[in-house]
Amino acid sequence: MTYKLLFVCLGNICRSPSAENIMNHLILEAGLSATIVCDSAGTSGYHVGAAPDRRMSVAAKKRGLELIGQSRQLKPTDLQSFDLILAMDRENYQDILYLDREGKYEDKIRMICDFARSKPDREIPDPYYGGADGFDYVIDLLYDACAGLLTYVVNSPEYQAKI
Ligand code: 4NP
Repeated sequence: MTYKLLFVCLGNICRSPSAENIMNHLILEAGLSATIVCDSAGTSGYHVGAAPDRRMSVAAKKRGLELIGQSRQLKPTDLQSFDLILAMDRENYQDILYLDREGKYEDKIRMICDFARSKPDREIPDPYYGGADGFDYVIDLLYDACAGLLTYVVNSPEYQAKI
């Protein structure tokens, strides 16, 4: 059995693919690839099928990380199939909750910044219309939050029950 993480942003070409690839890197480093798997999705369908944004890939590459993946749109059944769903900003969070009309999955929908350890930011800012600095900052925030997230997951009763 595997514990399944889903990272969600608006377009699934900048923030959530970065989170997915960073998390996969940390999971691999920790030797946990057999028990934790990651995916990402966008609340919009604007970029379905597209590779990660080139500017985001440049920022990741500076940190030695290659971004792989193809944009897909979040679907209602994702709420059921994933163990934990991580929103990048409040708008993403509200849009995910909107698919959970009965409030059945509320407990597994979280803001990724809740797991940050050294950064005070409460959201991962949308870098799409900004400069290169914004993309670098997204990578910084995500490394911090993903490290905290991994610690949270491995200590959670839900993960412990699966391994
Ligand atoms: P993401 O960034 O949500 O982090 O993938 C964006 C990508 C595309 C757009 C906005 C944000 N867009 O407006 O097309």
